[in-house]
Amino acid sequence: MAENVLIIGAGSGSGIGMGLVQHYCQQGHQVQAISRQPRPALMASEGVSWLSLESSQTDDESERSEQAINKVVAEAIRAEPALIFICQGWLHDNQHGPEKTLRQLSVLQMYKSFEINVVQPALYLKALFSYLTRQAGIKVLVLSAKVGSISDNQLGGWYSYRLSKAAVNMLVKTNSIEVGRYNKTASVVSLHPGTTDTALSAPFQANVPSGQLQSSEATAKRMAAVAAALTPQLSGKLLNWDGAVLPF
Ligand SMILES: NC(=O)c1ccc[n+]([C@@H]2O[C@H](COP(=O)([O-])OP(=O)(O)OC[C@H]3O[C@@H](n4cnc5c(N)ncnc54)[C@H](OP(=O)(O)O)[C@@H]3O)[C@@H](O)[C@H]2O)c1
Repeated sequence: MAENVLIIGAGSGSGIGMGLVQHYCQQGHQVQAISRQPRPALMASEGVSWLSLESSQTDDESERSEQAINKVVAEAIRAEPALIFICQGWLHDNQHGPEKTLRQLSVLQMYKSFEINVVQPALYLKALFSYLTRQAGIKVLVLSAKVGSISDNQLGGWYSYRLSKAAVNMLVKTNSIEVGRYNKTASVVSLHPGTTDTALSAPFQANVPSGQLQSSEATAKRMAAVAAALTPQLSGKLLNWDGAVLPF
């Protein structure tokens, strides 16, 4: 049955969010995409509503960000999405790469990592809160990463990214409990998509064992299978790309 699917953070050309947009479109679903980017020229499909984040009239950066998120989410929930993916994520830029040692830690990098990997998903969940508490069978998948699992951490390093992904897992767990008090049919999970060929992973792909690097299309297909099998009993968990429950 065709559903309405909302994909937040859809705009990166090679990214997993865009892979999801294309996957659900091809499957005949109605897709809404939220992005800081304008609708890509190639994305002309009638099945996609493209909602660009606007900036509003305030000097306060965080207030501006929250107002823009509230506005775009209010528009998106009018279509009553049954399935929501939150795909924000950041690991590196020209000035910062993942820290090999704590001596490389920079305040700017840590703030940026928390802003994009934790604060923004939290603002989206906040804007969606009343919708999630009343919509029967609603499913939300927040993209996280296995490196945010504390018990799975064997290698160390990557401080800012690891910390922010551990925090987003706690955000999802805590939110799943609160949403579940009102709506027993809701599922809110964090999801490790597996190593995928995107701008985020590009500098680190040399170390990926052969055959383990997925295209965004393949990752989107696997994530859609996880979403289809999701039940409220799994709410709050960190799931792997194959649907297995990962340890926190
Ligand atoms: N690729 C991998 O191997 C891999 C592995 C494990 C986990 N993940 C996780 O999967 C998710 C998607 O990653 P990806 O590989 O698709 O990365 P990506 O191609 O870099 O896309 C990341 C998305 O995050 C949003 N974003 C980037 N900078 C932002 C900023 N300053 N403010 C707000 N939003 C910003 C963008 O959304 P818009 O431009 O549309 O607004 C973009 O679509 C992330 O949470 C990542 O941590 C990826």
